[in-house]
Amino acid sequence: MKIYMHKSLSRKRLFIILLSIVTILSLLIPTLGNPSVVNGEVLVYQDPTAAIPDRVSDLVSRMSLNEKIGQMTQVDRRYLNSDQDIATYYLGSLLSGGGSAPTPNTPEAWADMYDQYQSIALSSNLGIPLIYGIDAVHGHNNVYGATIFPHNIGLGATRNPALLKQIGEATAKEVAGTGIDWTFAPALSVARNERWGRTYESFGEDPEIASSYATIIEGLQGTNLNDPATILATAKHWVGDGGTTGGDDQGDTQISEQELRDIHIAPYLNAINSGVGSIMISYSSWNGEKLHGHDYLINDVLKGELGFDGFIVSDWAAIDQLPGDYASDVRDSINAGIDMIMVPDNYVNFINTLRTEVNEGRIAMTRIDDAVERILTKKFELGLFESPYTDRTYTATVGSQAHRDIARDAVRQSLVLLKNEGNILPLSKNLNKVFVAGKNADNIGYQSGGWSISWQGSGGDITPGTTILEGIQNAVSPSTTVTYNERGIGIKSDYDVAIVVIGEKPYAEGNGDKPGNFGLERTDLAVLDKMKRAGVPIVVILVSGRPLIVTDQLADWNAFVEAWLPGTEGGGVADVLFGDYNFTGTLPMSWPRTGDQIPINIGDSQYDPLFPYGYGLTFP
Ligand code: GLC
Repeated sequence: MKIYMHKSLSRKRLFIILLSIVTILSLLIPTLGNPSVVNGEVLVYQDPTAAIPDRVSDLVSRMSLNEKIGQMTQVDRRYLNSDQDIATYYLGSLLSGGGSAPTPNTPEAWADMYDQYQSIALSSNLGIPLIYGIDAVHGHNNVYGATIFPHNIGLGATRNPALLKQIGEATAKEVAGTGIDWTFAPALSVARNERWGRTYESFGEDPEIASSYATIIEGLQGTNLNDPATILATAKHWVGDGGTTGGDDQGDTQISEQELRDIHIAPYLNAINSGVGSIMISYSSWNGEKLHGHDYLINDVLKGELGFDGFIVSDWAAIDQLPGDYASDVRDSINAGIDMIMVPDNYVNFINTLRTEVNEGRIAMTRIDDAVERILTKKFELGLFESPYTDRTYTATVGSQAHRDIARDAVRQSLVLLKNEGNILPLSKNLNKVFVAGKNADNIGYQSGGWSISWQGSGGDITPGTTILEGIQNAVSPSTTVTYNERGIGIKSDYDVAIVVIGEKPYAEGNGDKPGNFGLERTDLAVLDKMKRAGVPIVVILVSGRPLIVTDQLADWNAFVEAWLPGTEGGGVADVLFGDYNFTGTLPMSWPRTGDQIPINIGDSQYDPLFPYGYGLTFP
């Protein structure tokens, strides 16, 4: 018997049969990597409508010890043995240390790199997204073409918290545009000794400035971390990094607890109240005890007394400096309250060591769970589970004119006028002949300082921007002749003014420690001498990360401006030099007369600086 099936009937039956098969399969075979629906139920941690604490506890309850340890492990991308290790070891975080950039170093390549790493992280069993950190400490400074803002010491001179919020917002957009979720900034260091190589990363010698600059955290994190234009901020380095004896980077801060609280802990109060999402621990010690193992200052004070509820990250390989073997380094740092370890290289050794310490009962599982819960809470707040990939709408903001305009305004406000004999400033834009000299006049790298494209920074055209010389050339009238010679060759007495732009070459961290002579470099002194011999009025612009000893030269200068480390928008210097804007900056650091006076800080009993903290002239 032949069964004739009506065409429409057979097609309909076929469709129903297929639909049934698909439905059964979808129920039986949970999707790999992201088991958002198992046996028909949505897992709480995958449910964006669920409360974050519930999502965290649900996820933690599903995690193996290896997955928990992976979340506590941060690796610099350069040290990945293979990208697949991100999933194999359930890595929770990657970073780019200074200069750890993709090739080519373009915003798009950064975003592609980030998305590639993220896709691997999401392929692991529970699909926990990475959180990627970077030192965007004066703009997104590792990225070629990004806006580079003045370093913190210059921002300290502005005394403008609202400006800091603007800078935070602009920086967050540029960082987010490359996919990255987290910056290791702001440094809340209170630099008490300008011999410290990281003085320029400090907002100044008195905690009042850093305390008022919690606004940059509001700029970076916004009112909702879920906003694609916001990133996680880091207050660093907890605590006392700027108070070491002799300004020795990673040295020993030998002061009373009351001084530690009044000077170095003070800025963290506003930062914590502003909801800063992470805090980085300092390499330094307090009265001989390394901060990375300091149970009292981390567990009792920071997490207990101050109630910090974000997560705590170590500094780069800093736990290795703890006394004892690596097992005790891991044990002591995590038991002291550090939640994530910036290993950043030998992550397999770290993971194996941590697993052993837990399995043998020397680190409690409750400590591990606390660390993982803190880290996951920020990942959920950032929206990484729902939007793990780069939001490319912000990629075009990297180095945008709008951001460069903010940076140029910051440069203007950061300048401090320390001498203006005969009111030589502001200069006329219609001068006949202007001579510009000095090694820091036409050098984007020098005016950006350390943490610029590379960790230590470097000279030359390292990234697009406007040098101080270019700013001068753009400011004057077409009838004005501007002659530039780095060494001052060609100066003659018929020049109306010599603008001498001198100062420091880039450095970062301990490489900038300056235990010896604190005066100007010989090449700068030689240029100044040549200008002096020509008998031309001299305007000195000092490009430096800190005050330097200029007492013996100052008398020869008609005007003296401290420009700190202005970054890519050097045009801001000419804006004020030629009177489009007035000086508003004031010193965030006391200016010593001699090297022997260092350290010298406002409030010292014998206080006799060349220029006092808070000093700054304006045009009449
Ligand atoms: C560095 C610095 C720290 C930075 C970290 C990652 O050594 O001390 O400020 O955030 O390593 O680059």
